[in-house]
Amino acid sequence: MPNVIIVVGIQWGDEGKGKIVDILSEKADFVVRSQGGNNAGHTIVAGEREFKFHLIPSGILYSNVQCCVTGGCVVDAESLIGEIQALEKRGFSLLGRLHISAFAHLIMSYHKDFDAWQEELKGDLSIGTTKKGIGPCYSDKANRIGIQVGELLNFSHFAQHLNQIISLKNKEAAHLFQKPPIDDKALLEKYTQYASFLKPYISLTVEKDVLEAAKAGKKVLLEGAHGSYLDQTFGTYPYVTAAGTLASGIAAGAAMGPTEIGHVVGVVRAFTTRVGHGPFPTELKQEEVNLFLSNEEAREIATTTQRKRRMGWFDAPLVRQALRWNGATSMAIMKLDVLDQLAEIKICTAYRLAGKVIDCPPPMTPDWDRIEPIYETMPGWQKSTKDTSSYDQLPDRAKAYVKKIEQLCGCKISFISYGPQREKTIQMHRLF
Ligand code: GDP
Ligand code: IMO
Ligand code: MG
Repeated sequence: MPNVIIVVGIQWGDEGKGKIVDILSEKADFVVRSQGGNNAGHTIVAGEREFKFHLIPSGILYSNVQCCVTGGCVVDAESLIGEIQALEKRGFSLLGRLHISAFAHLIMSYHKDFDAWQEELKGDLSIGTTKKGIGPCYSDKANRIGIQVGELLNFSHFAQHLNQIISLKNKEAAHLFQKPPIDDKALLEKYTQYASFLKPYISLTVEKDVLEAAKAGKKVLLEGAHGSYLDQTFGTYPYVTAAGTLASGIAAGAAMGPTEIGHVVGVVRAFTTRVGHGPFPTELKQEEVNLFLSNEEAREIATTTQRKRRMGWFDAPLVRQALRWNGATSMAIMKLDVLDQLAEIKICTAYRLAGKVIDCPPPMTPDWDRIEPIYETMPGWQKSTKDTSSYDQLPDRAKAYVKKIEQLCGCKISFISYGPQREKTIQMHRLF
């Protein structure tokens, strides 16, 4: 249906999904997060105000939008309550507008402990996770020992279930990590408070409500989290997150069939970044990083963990493959302004692996360390794009760069973004 749009990250996350969701939300009726948890960090700059969302959908700034967190998500109650309270302090009312699915799983405090302990234990095999408990929570879900958000609605059942799980977790903590048992009384006390706070936000029908709204022609936006190469199956495994991050996973996490989806907007940076460990073929040398960061609008500190993002040139084969995986109908090119000052800009157009030219990343992650990017160099525009307000006003060389990306990736452009602020966006065609 043309009234249902997925916004999905095409590289390794932090492409600027939050900004595109915010822009499209102006006309949306529903904005939905359907996978991942508060490992995501989506930034919106609205006038003088900046917002960072972790689990709350980026449509929340518009009072007409219903915001939904559906069953594919994992929910850290403490962090969610913090996000709700921070927004309330800034004058936003969320009650009746934020709906959390009973199907979603709870990230418990022991999941966060296990995330940190596993990372430590793995040593050289560590992933560089956000330590938000995402992997341990999804693995408990797959292992059928997770706790669902809906269980908070029947607290005596929740308490009993939690006690059973704690005895299992204590064994794991002692045997695998030599850690002391969980303080079950303190944990239950905390969850008594979380349950009473969250009760009015928990919904038994949110997926049904979203689907019925979509079928009735309401505008529904599904907000992807993370990036395509962090997808648990098709990403650079094992350096991935624990959820599906592709458009198919986003739809699945909202219990939506693929035939409901009208458009898929792939969000792509005009260059590449990555947070955490794992291969990165076009990663920059330190002197090149300094050139990028001489632009004070670069903002390359991770939203959730405050780690420095690793940076790289635009990688066309990587983007082209992910646009296909997602069935992207258009792409949003973000952060063009970060390239404003560069004299030369490189684009990776193919790779060389064992003497052969290949036009697609290899399936097996260890091979990524052996591929050599083949670059084409384009002249930079060396002009500020800051005061641009239309495509025609972009410097000619910036237009050539963007067109080159479009041609190499085989996907039409719907947005060009040249600053963090809402208004620094050129929309090439209407979606909603
Ligand atoms: P997300 O996780 O995909 O929503 O992206 P993040 O919010 O984690 O990271 C993107 C960062 O780039 C944020 O600080 C945004 O405010 C910023 N940003 C988004 N679009 C642009 C842009 O076009 N230019 C610049 N300079 N910054 C941008
Ligand atoms: P948004 O939605 C960037 C990365 C982590 C780590 C790996 C696994 O803001 O684009 P996890 O805690 O998920 O088990 O960590 O995935 N990662 C992200 N990197 N942006 C994100 O989300 C990310 N979510 C997870 O850095 O390398
Ligand atoms: Mg982010």
